[in-house]
Amino acid sequence: MKFSGKDLAFAAAAVAVLVVVVLGTGKKLGPDVPDDNDHQAFFSQLAQGGKRVEVEKGCRSCHPMAELPEAHPHKEECMVCHQPG
Ligand code: HEC
Ligand code: HEC
Repeated sequence: MKFSGKDLAFAAAAVAVLVVVVLGTGKKLGPDVPDDNDHQAFFSQLAQGGKRVEVEKGCRSCHPMAELPEAHPHKEECMVCHQPG
């Protein structure tokens, strides 16, 4: 079966709705980041229209994946789970 552009647009819209619903439940996916300048700077970049995937790369300069706890999710979307407190 081939996917047309329309199918892809529909799938993308469905995913977007799902993300909004999941985030909208207010369920905490991880601990909040500390309320300090190092962390707030990232979230104000987001507020100013920065792309999350680009912005959150900066997290790793202080929190390399290798230094996160053993049980930490192996996911790179830091800012999805960690919100400002
Ligand atoms: C300039 C270095 C630096 C950067 C950049 C940085 N952090 Fe941190 N982060 C720290 C330090 C230091 C602490 C511990 C300080 C504290 O607990 O107040 C910390 C604590 C945290 C904590 C809390 C840990 C806990 O035990 O509750 C989380 C979550 C976190 N950072 C996530 C992030 C995320 C997500 C980003 C990117 C948006 C980020 N950090 C960027 C230095 C940094
Ligand atoms: C799928 C959700 C999720 C994603 C994505 C995620 N985290 Fe976490 N993070 C958590 C959870 C849950 C904890 C608490 C785990 C624990 O205490 O063992 C945590 C804990 C932390 C802590 C505290 C570690 C400590 O020593 O107590 C830091 C720092 C952190 N994450 C940074 C990051 C960074 C940086 C990224 C992106 C590279 C990231 N997280 C991506 C869910 C996530």
